[in-house]
Amino acid sequence: MDIRRLTDRLGGLAFGGDYNPEQWDAEVWKEDDELMRRARVNLATVGVFSWALLEPEEGRYDFDRLDAHLDRLHAAGVAVDLATPTASPPPWFTLAHPDALTVRPDGTRLTHGSRDTYCLTSPAYRRAARRIAAALAERYGDHPALALWHVHNEYVTLCFCDHTAAAFRVWLRTRHGSLDALNEAWGTAFWSQHYTAWEQILPPRTSQWHHNPGHLLDYRRFWSDETLAAYREQRDAIRAHSDRPVTTNLMVPDYQNLDLWAFGREVDLVSIDHYPGAPGVDAAAQAAFDADRARSFAGGGPWLLMESGTSTVYAGDRVLPKEPGDILRHSLAHIARGSEGALFFQWRQSRAGAETWHSAMVPHAGPDSRIFREVTAAGAAVARLGELAGSTVGAEVAVLHDSDAWWATTVDGLPSAELGYHPALRRAHRALWDAGLTVDFAHPEHDLNRYRVVLAPALFLLTDAGAENLRRYVADGGTLLLQHFGGIVDERLHARLGGYPAAPLREALGIRVEEHRPLAQGEEIALSDGSTGSSWSESLRTEGAEALAAYTHGMLDGSPALTRHAFGSGHGWYLSTRLDDAGYTALVGRLLTEARVLPGLPGLPAGVEAVTRHAPDGRAWHVLINHLDEPVPLARPGHDLLTGGTVSRLPAGGCAVLRAL
Ligand code: GLA
Repeated sequence: MDIRRLTDRLGGLAFGGDYNPEQWDAEVWKEDDELMRRARVNLATVGVFSWALLEPEEGRYDFDRLDAHLDRLHAAGVAVDLATPTASPPPWFTLAHPDALTVRPDGTRLTHGSRDTYCLTSPAYRRAARRIAAALAERYGDHPALALWHVHNEYVTLCFCDHTAAAFRVWLRTRHGSLDALNEAWGTAFWSQHYTAWEQILPPRTSQWHHNPGHLLDYRRFWSDETLAAYREQRDAIRAHSDRPVTTNLMVPDYQNLDLWAFGREVDLVSIDHYPGAPGVDAAAQAAFDADRARSFAGGGPWLLMESGTSTVYAGDRVLPKEPGDILRHSLAHIARGSEGALFFQWRQSRAGAETWHSAMVPHAGPDSRIFREVTAAGAAVARLGELAGSTVGAEVAVLHDSDAWWATTVDGLPSAELGYHPALRRAHRALWDAGLTVDFAHPEHDLNRYRVVLAPALFLLTDAGAENLRRYVADGGTLLLQHFGGIVDERLHARLGGYPAAPLREALGIRVEEHRPLAQGEEIALSDGSTGSSWSESLRTEGAEALAAYTHGMLDGSPALTRHAFGSGHGWYLSTRLDDAGYTALVGRLLTEARVLPGLPGLPAGVEAVTRHAPDGRAWHVLINHLDEPVPLARPGHDLLTGGTVSRLPAGGCAVLRAL
């Protein structure tokens, strides 16, 4: 099923958000209709947290309210993204099925009173989830308001209960085939961990010290597969009654324990929720990171920003506001990268309950507020972008992403606490974003030939097939940068023997790493090119590569730190430490220059984002976002869809969507 069906149905890009009218009364609903019209809302996500009202007791449904809301929204011209409410089971459910409650690794069984408190492997939960999904689909599958199905909400909860143990064992049998194979894969010959019966294997509950790493990694894989199975059950129950596209809102990057490539293949359209963790330009860079990932998980095609906050920046122990203008800038950052619209959580700020202080499209202050005025302006802007629907975004550079590699960096017993996966990916993406480029993410086993430059940070785990694929990519003319501690273990977390990284890749890089030398916290190591490394260093020798920078003191004095190898028709670069910011930016710049990669829209200063969407018929649009505090003249004036006129300069903080000539 195609996302085009959604945008055709909406007559353009989507604008709106989560709508939870059960919190309000008829007076407010009336005002909602009027305010949604003013804000140009055309899509509302309904029912995410409605289970307790929809099914007040087991098997008895009360659809009256939902009937009325769907009819009302339809009459108001707002299409509905109908959610299955399974992320928040009602109190009666958990009292009737205590075995369906989440169990923490330490054995604590949680209770209801919050949300997301369920175990996906519990048969009672799965039955109940399928049942309500089917009941909703049967009733609303053909409703004229219905444009999209929204299964669940951010599958996030992990569980370690006995149901999980049983399901985990079934999964392990399928993956390994025999206990012998499992014992071999996990390396249980050490620490007396040898298993002689499947029943002896538990989920990785709290243990005395390090867990077996293979056990931890397999649990993560299992959980992702189990989640996908739970999603499929609901999706298929819906499809039996409805032909509308089905999605589930994914949370990227590191909050959700899922293989997002696998989810991308199972949903009719990829949708994500995005909440930045830092204000200002960092928030914009994070939006680009998440949006580029979403597009990549969608196979490069259109996708949808399902949730964002009108004024929500999760910064550690507080929630910071967004800056004036961010509502439009952040919406456009996603749309630029292929989102078919911009949706928010939530429409009206709650007066009571757990998310009273979460920002919304209609704040507590009501429509006479800066936020609602910005929402209205953003709605009007998105309404002018209808012609972008169905267009896509291409990239010449990619950052590798693999869930196995991510999870592998979270196992116990690694030599440094500074091997975080997503920080390394963010940094690589940021260097490319700062260089004015649109970035794809790609799996190490994907066909990479369309990319001129591929960055491979934090690729600790790399399969034989992945290593061979990267070797071939370089041989065929690609430019690859493998970063420290990459290509170290295979998919079973078995270390590569005879020198790192994995052999085919050593050939492409022309190096052999002999020893890892993690640095102390805060320690720095100087390099001969004037840059410094931190957190990590390695003893390596070149085997055909040229050393571009060397370590300058200690045991590694004179040893290569950064290398480049001409291999086949491409170049394999290797960086054995974590470079300081300026050094890393300069290195990425050098790779881009040597590979002749230019920003999509040259001539713009750093701080102005420019992304191009292309339609299959040759039309194209440049989305421009000025993050600077000063106006920026445009080399070529163009027709701006946002204003309907010709623009020759971008005001400070301003945006434009130009028809490409
Ligand atoms: C998530 C959820 C929403 C809401 C927001 C708050 O994205 O899906 O229900 O809780 O977080 O940021």
